[in-house]
Amino acid sequence: MSKPLRLGIAGLGTVGCGLIRQLQTHPDLIAARAGRAIEIAAISARSRDKDRGLDLSAYEWEDDPVALAARADIDVFVELMGGSEGSAKAATEAAIAAGKDVVTANKALLAIHGQPLALAAEAAGKVIRFEAAVAGGIPVIKSLTEGLAGNQITRVMGVMNGTCNYILTRMESAGLPYAEVFEEARQLGYLEADPNLDVGGIDAGHKLALLAAIAFGAQVDFDAVELEGIGSITIEDIRQADDMGYKIKLLGVAQMTGRGLEQRMSPCLVPATSPLGQLQGGTNMVVLEGDAVGQIVLRGAGAGAGPTASAVAGDIIDIARGFRAPTFGQPATSLRKMRAARAAVPAPYYLRLTLQDKPGALAKVARALGESGISINRMRQYDHADVAAPVLIVTHKTTRAALDEAIAAFAETGVVMSDPVAIRIEAV
Ligand code: NAP
Ligand code: HSE
Repeated sequence: MSKPLRLGIAGLGTVGCGLIRQLQTHPDLIAARAGRAIEIAAISARSRDKDRGLDLSAYEWEDDPVALAARADIDVFVELMGGSEGSAKAATEAAIAAGKDVVTANKALLAIHGQPLALAAEAAGKVIRFEAAVAGGIPVIKSLTEGLAGNQITRVMGVMNGTCNYILTRMESAGLPYAEVFEEARQLGYLEADPNLDVGGIDAGHKLALLAAIAFGAQVDFDAVELEGIGSITIEDIRQADDMGYKIKLLGVAQMTGRGLEQRMSPCLVPATSPLGQLQGGTNMVVLEGDAVGQIVLRGAGAGAGPTASAVAGDIIDIARGFRAPTFGQPATSLRKMRAARAAVPAPYYLRLTLQDKPGALAKVARALGESGISINRMRQYDHADVAAPVLIVTHKTTRAALDEAIAAFAETGVVMSDPVAIRIEAV
């Protein structure tokens, strides 16, 4: 067998400890598959004294992850600290400068700094692997960069934030309002330290930006992702969607349009009978569409120690085997800076409005839609006890720009009592 592959691991939290546990549990199996032993040379975290429920005594300790990244006795720097800036960025740059390969689970770092990091790594003849950064245990990066490499990818979709899917499906199953389920998710430890990363769609937006870069040969561009979180979704929206045969999901979609690359992460209605519509709880699902392969659906755990460590270990084993692919599936120098197409692809929309219950109110809203070129498919006013009438409208296909124009015109009607909720109906 060749000489062992030696790791420096920075970050001993959920994922770091999950990885070490996996390496300690299956050393022989992993060595057999990798063709060489995989050894941990040194580790780093903020606190040296914390009990992490693991025997770490065999590994050298570094207080500074940047020093760890540059150690002469490591081949691969494994970055499991998180964050797009600070130590994660500095240590990853230091590792590349010191001639190390890098494995990371850090979607924020790569969604924001992926292009310069990939350029630096490839110029140095090194690889950056990040399977765990997107949809945790689901091997979606491998699927795109290897198994589907011969396809022109036409669309990438996914539910890639388990916390949001937990909140939306729990609201539905328990009939609870958003605020109550949000609090429940907090108590269960599902939410990131900054919950807006989850419910604001940012975490899932990072993941979508990474997939879009690989799928469309683009320079990763998180700023081009249109983001909308789940905070405005009510139990009433979920019930009405259900009644019409749909489920509401925080759905990421990336596709190439005549006007450029469209990337959006927003609540969408999807058919209740579709695989995405049936996705329950904290599970993730990624749907890939290619010209030759058609549609592929990948489903599994998007977070947690085991699933995430599984993906990190797979990347490390690939490096041990000598498998070396460019970070985003093709040389970083060949990735194109894409024009961002915003809301270019038309779709039907679900609209929820609260109108003053007086003669002519509905007609004013219908006229505003008509003047923006939007045709109504279905409309319903449901039971109400006071002067505020809840109205639902499903439009025929329209663009988000036309809808925004109509929504702006609603304000002029004087009959719309609260901010309208507009949710795209995605054909999946
Ligand atoms: P975590 O539990 O919060 O652990 C972070 C670890 O990094 C801790 O051990 C912490 O040290 C260490 N750390 C933080 N800042 C540091 C610094 N400046 N210097 C040295 N060590 C530092 O985080 P995690 O959940 O394992 O996530 C790690 C990465 O994986 C993140 O990029 C995350 O987005 C990604 N990820 C996580 C999951 C998941 O299910 N958790 C899934 C997919 C991807 P102390 O322990 O001493 O405080
Ligand atoms: N906060 C993320 C989620 C963790 O809920 O899916 C994994 O990235």
